[in-house]
Amino acid sequence: ANTGSTGIKLAEPHLEDVLSSAGINVEYTRAERNTLYYRDQDGQEVPVLDLVGGFGSLILGHNDPEIVAHARELLAAGTPIHAQFSPHPHANRVAAELNRVIHRETGDSEPYFAVFANSGAEAVEAAVKHAELDRGLRLAALAEELAAHRESAREAVAAGATVRADAFETAGTAPEDGIEGLIEAVERSNDRRLARPPLFLAPEGAFHGKLMGSVQLTHNEAFRLPFSALAAQTRFIPVDQPDALAKTVREERAVILDLVAEDGTVSLTERPFPLFCAFVLEPIQGEGGIKVIGEEFAREVQRVCREIDCPVVVDEIQSGMGRSGAFLASSLIGLRADYYTLAKSLGGGVAKTSVALIRQGRYRKEFELVHSSTFAKDGFSSQIALKTLQLLEADDGRAYRLARERGEKLLSVLELIRADFPEVVKDVRGRGLMLGIEFHDQAETTSPEIRAVAEAGFLGYVISGHLLNEHRIRVFPTGSSVNTLRMEPSIHLDDEEIERIRQALRAVCRLIRDQDGGRLVHA
Ligand code: F0G
Repeated sequence: ANTGSTGIKLAEPHLEDVLSSAGINVEYTRAERNTLYYRDQDGQEVPVLDLVGGFGSLILGHNDPEIVAHARELLAAGTPIHAQFSPHPHANRVAAELNRVIHRETGDSEPYFAVFANSGAEAVEAAVKHAELDRGLRLAALAEELAAHRESAREAVAAGATVRADAFETAGTAPEDGIEGLIEAVERSNDRRLARPPLFLAPEGAFHGKLMGSVQLTHNEAFRLPFSALAAQTRFIPVDQPDALAKTVREERAVILDLVAEDGTVSLTERPFPLFCAFVLEPIQGEGGIKVIGEEFAREVQRVCREIDCPVVVDEIQSGMGRSGAFLASSLIGLRADYYTLAKSLGGGVAKTSVALIRQGRYRKEFELVHSSTFAKDGFSSQIALKTLQLLEADDGRAYRLARERGEKLLSVLELIRADFPEVVKDVRGRGLMLGIEFHDQAETTSPEIRAVAEAGFLGYVISGHLLNEHRIRVFPTGSSVNTLRMEPSIHLDDEEIERIRQALRAVCRLIRDQDGGRLVHA
């Protein structure tokens, strides 16, 4: 029935085959809170505890009753959903509420303007495009200033000023060519320097989406390299080497030539110009394997970026919306952003929406006239986002307290498992309801079944398949950290569910410890 007249499946069939081989290709028919249901061969509903949580888009769980009721009301009332180029009060209210929450958490008061989009990658690209527009305008202002300096130099020479000999040398011209030759050489050189494409900075392990621009900010080479000709490039910084950022910035330092007339002398100096368009980072790397960025690294990013006037884009698409126990995970490490991006749970698990927030001091209103999307800031998703924010903020931030407290409880369970199975579990980590359990790679196991999947990089998926088929728990490794299972349940995670996770993970650890590949690997 789902192959139509062609007789073959047409919507990314290869991916379905890959999921099938790990035994995780289950079709779900209903969802609520942390549970997905499928129907078995007899038509009976089978509940599955879902720790994937829509890749982090379900902080309130599947089909939150209040969000669903609100969605129903909006649709029943015939609310305008697509009325582009008319006032958008709901988007304004979402932006106002986001500002209120962010100001409370960071203690800052500078407004952030909001550019809405539809997906995470799109919000990242809107932020990056804005940063490049801003960089271009700063470069243009600099170029204008330098042109005025050259004009003053010309006038100074006409009035008898002398040109320093090393100026000709630096510009690659000869004294015989005079001031006109020098000016022409400087202009040519500067045009060439300014035409250099911008560079981005991001930590190793970064993930910011898979569109043309955002995938170049994504560290995983398999995702990034085939498309590197399509967009500007990123220098990736190791997070565990404190000096690496400053070193990279030194290596890539870009200068432009400034001809200055002063006290009867014309000289040529080098001035730095903004080559780096933005530093983009997640406060807790999600797809990279649940890696919490340390305060020291955050401070270094802030320090270096201030020095070179490079905006900091904090991608809270996965870590934000309360998942870390605070609205913004970055607020917990003192990281402040010129730009924030939010998506995933912003749509309350029902709508698709995202936003790039831009600090007033960097904001260029021209951007609004050159960037847009048919679907962005539509009436439906804006009102769902507003409702989602209200639910997170309700009862003096009960949702954040739950994320913190439930997360700590689950993490302590994971830590005990690690202590009991040190030969199986390499690490457990994360913050709030953004947790990871990393397994040792098992290349040394005596079980031929386990060794084969480990060597193929499939151990995480095989454990996932086992947890689903034997324990009705849905959890996946992340794309770039294949031995790390990522857990992002909703704030409704209860003690019984945590106990199920505990028992299932202990059972899996026993099989791996005992090298019982026959029972671990899905037939
Ligand atoms: N930024 C971050 C931090 C993300 O985690 C993701 C997606 C994106 C941007 C892109 O958002 O998919 O809506 O375009 N992360 C997923 C993951 C898919 O597996 O962690 P998108």
